[in-house]
Amino acid sequence: MAALQIVNVEKRYKALQALGGVSLSIEPGEFFGLLGPNGAGKTTLISIIAGLNRADAGHVAIHGYDVVRDYREARRRLGVVPQELVFDPFFTVRETLRMQSGYFGLKNNDKWIDEVMENLDLAGKADTNMRALSGGMKRRVLVAQALVHKPPVIVLDEPTAGVDVELRQTLWKFITRLNREGHTIVLTTHYLEEAQALCNRIAMLKAGRVVALDSTSALLKRISGSQLVLRLAKGGLPEALKPLVSHPDELVAGRKYTLRVNEYIEVEPILATLREAGAVIEDMHLQQADLEDVFIQIMEGEK
Ligand SMILES: Nc1ncnc2c1ncn2[C@@H]1O[C@H](COP(=O)(O)OP(=O)(O)OP(=O)(O)O)[C@@H](O)[C@H]1O
Ligand SMILES: [Mg+2]
Repeated sequence: MAALQIVNVEKRYKALQALGGVSLSIEPGEFFGLLGPNGAGKTTLISIIAGLNRADAGHVAIHGYDVVRDYREARRRLGVVPQELVFDPFFTVRETLRMQSGYFGLKNNDKWIDEVMENLDLAGKADTNMRALSGGMKRRVLVAQALVHKPPVIVLDEPTAGVDVELRQTLWKFITRLNREGHTIVLTTHYLEEAQALCNRIAMLKAGRVVALDSTSALLKRISGSQLVLRLAKGGLPEALKPLVSHPDELVAGRKYTLRVNEYIEVEPILATLREAGAVIEDMHLQQADLEDVFIQIMEGEK
């Protein structure tokens, strides 16, 4: 049975179709990426999964439990780290986590609470009031809150937005451990290198529709070849090279350009063109195409 079954979910906010019939089936143990530009409908879908928002049509089940009809059973199997920071400022970190445990009917949960705090580097703040925490620390508490009842399905809505390198590493270490232990992870992020490194499968959402759904490796294979990344000190990119630019916004910003090259031999004529145009190269390297390139290509194709 699927860990998360999403069938034809539609959601409309007045004239705006936020979700236009989304279907996804996520198996137990997957590390699944839900990607898409701002406003694609990711958070709307997650709030429907969490039972915080009602779909206009379609349905969602967590390990077979419908999120509306079997709300309590479904909710018990789900941990959600919300995108927005919401918390009660008057409680300490430990009290917040104890209350969350109580909400799931868990008494004597302190051992796991301590372990979660330890793993998220929160132990030193256990007795600090929520209002006295920094933004990144508050986000750690949101993650901890989602995990207090050891849910088999964990959904993280941009957990690393505005978070420092250390927390990212701590967080991913803990989440990948939980994934190895069998927990299903659904991750939303705008950091595509994170998704590329962590997710076995990815869905891309645009304007409320799934526009790509594949394994991460299959998505990466859609783009072949390498890229020549150039930073020019002087002179813009010669006209003849502009069609090779893979990130169109680079033409607007100027200076740094990512050019598609299928074979290494193609680098030489590019350099010749630059030399003839009198461009001065400040920095240059070759790199493999990555998930960001795939994402841009798919989103461009869906205009
Ligand atoms: N409560 C609401 N009332 C009206 N419109 C809404 C509401 N919530 C979301 N929307 C709209 O629905 C669309 C999808 O929003 P959603 O928050 O799901 O996007 P998202 O993919 O999570 O984007 P982001 O990457 O910015 O978090 C947007 O156009 C948004 O403005
Ligand atoms: Mg969102």
